[in-house]
Amino acid sequence: MKNSFRKKPLSLLLDEMKSEHRLNRVLGPLALTSLGVGAIIGTGIFVLIGVAAHDKAGPAVTLSFALAGLACVFAALCYAEFASMAPVAGSAYTYAYATLGELFAWIIGWDLILEYGIASASVAHGWSHYFQDFIGIFGVKLPFVFTKAPIDFDSATGVMSMTGTWFDLPVVAIAFIVTVVLVKGIKESAGFNAGMVIVKVAVVLLVIVLGAMYVKPENWQPFAPFGYSGLSLFGHTVIGGNSTEGAPVGVLAGAAMIFYAYIGFDSISTHAEEAREPNRNVPIAIIGSLLICTVLYIAVAAVITGMVPYNQLNIDAPVSNAFKQVGLGWAQFVISLGAMTGITSVLLVLMLSQPRIFLAMARDGLLPKSFFGAVHEKFKTPWKSTIMTGIFVAFFGAVLPLRLLAELVNIGTLFAFVIVCAAVLIMRRTNPDAERPFRAPLVPLVPIAGILTCLLLMFSLPAENWWRLIVWLAIGFGIYFFYGRHHSVLNQRQD
Ligand code: ALA
Repeated sequence: MKNSFRKKPLSLLLDEMKSEHRLNRVLGPLALTSLGVGAIIGTGIFVLIGVAAHDKAGPAVTLSFALAGLACVFAALCYAEFASMAPVAGSAYTYAYATLGELFAWIIGWDLILEYGIASASVAHGWSHYFQDFIGIFGVKLPFVFTKAPIDFDSATGVMSMTGTWFDLPVVAIAFIVTVVLVKGIKESAGFNAGMVIVKVAVVLLVIVLGAMYVKPENWQPFAPFGYSGLSLFGHTVIGGNSTEGAPVGVLAGAAMIFYAYIGFDSISTHAEEAREPNRNVPIAIIGSLLICTVLYIAVAAVITGMVPYNQLNIDAPVSNAFKQVGLGWAQFVISLGAMTGITSVLLVLMLSQPRIFLAMARDGLLPKSFFGAVHEKFKTPWKSTIMTGIFVAFFGAVLPLRLLAELVNIGTLFAFVIVCAAVLIMRRTNPDAERPFRAPLVPLVPIAGILTCLLLMFSLPAENWWRLIVWLAIGFGIYFFYGRHHSVLNQRQD
C-alpha cells in the first residue's frame, strides 16, 4: 500500500523534459490564450445559460457567473503556479504525482477523463443539435434515424427509453473531422482553432453590443426570484429553496450548473510541453483566457436576462432565441452559426487535451506505453490515443444517453480543481525552495479559498452526481490495483 503513495520527484519531472519523444514547442502566448478561449466559450454560454436562468437563478444568473468565475480564478492561480514549475504534459495529473503520490495522481488522471473525454462527447452532442438547427434554416433535414442517439434517459424518473433512431450521424462526422485535424499536428490544430475563436468572440461581442440596445431594466426585476443560496448535502437541501424535483435552486445552485461554461481554461496546462517559454506563457494564457471569458459571460448574462424575462428564456438555444423574441431574425442566424463554430473549437481543444493526459500517464507506466505513449514520427502527435479518443467521443455522443453522463463533467472537474489547490499548498511545504517562475498570490489564502469554493459548488449539484463520481473513481481504483501499480515506472526504479 505504501507504494501507492510514492511521489514523483520534481527533479525527475524536469529531467524527463530533456529526453526524446517530446512534443513540438510551437505555441506562443497568443496561441495558448486562444486555445484557452477556444476551450471555454461553447455550450455553457450558448445553451446552459437558459436553463440556469430559467430554473435556478433568474436574472441573478449574472451573480452565478461571477461566483463560478471566482472559484475558477482561485484554481487558475494554482494551476498557473504548477504549470510554471513543471511545464510538462499532464496537467493536474502530473501535479498530483509530484505532491500527493501515485494513487492520487492516477485517480486524478482517471477523473480527468470525465472532464475531457465525457465533456467532449456531450459537447459533440450539442454540436449536432445546432448543426441540425442550422441546416434546417435552409430547409434541409437529415433522415430521422440519423438525428439523435437511439437511447434516451429521463433523469427525473430514471427511466431509459428507445427513441427509434439508429445513431446521431453529425456527432460521428464532427468527431471524425476533429480527430483528423488533431492527428495532423498541434500547429494545424492551433491555427484551425484561432480562426474559430475569432468568429465566436465576434459573435459574443455582437450579442453584448446589439443586445444591450434591447435591454428593458424591468426584466431584471425580481433580480433573484429563487434566492441567493442553493446548497444541498447528498440530496438534502440545506439552504435555499427546493425545486419540484428536490434539487437545490438559487444563485449558488445556478453557479454549480454554469460552472460548466468555464471548463477548459485548465486545458492550457495540458499543452505546457508544446509551449514556447512555458514558465511565462502558460500562466499568462491560463489567467488571461479565464478573465476574458468571465467578463464576456457576465455581460452576456446581463444582456440576455435584460432582453427577455427570465421565465420566457428558451432552454435549447436561449441566446439566439432571445434575438428572435425581440424581432431580430437575422441576428438569430448569425448567432447560431457562431454557436456552432464556438462549440467546434471547444471540441477541438478538449479532444486535444485528453490524449496528452494519457500520454503523461503512459510515460509513467500507469497505462500501456506502446499505445498511449506513441508519438507519430512525422506529425509528432500522440496519434493512437487521439484516434481512440475520437472513437470514444463518436460512440458515446452518437449512441448513449448523455444527460446522465454530462452531469458528471462538472463534479469531476471541480474535484480536479480541489486537488490542484491542495497540491499547491503541499508543494509549498515540501519543496519550499523549488523555482517558481509564477507564484500564486496570498498563499495559503488563495488555495484554501479555491478548495472551499469548489467544494461549495460540488455540494450545490444534485446528489446523484456524488454517487456517480464515487462509482467512477471505484472503477479507477480497480484498474490501478490490477495494472498501474505493477507497471509503474517508479515501481521498476525501486526494484
Ligand atoms: N466550457 C465549455 C463549454 O461551455 C465546456 O462548452
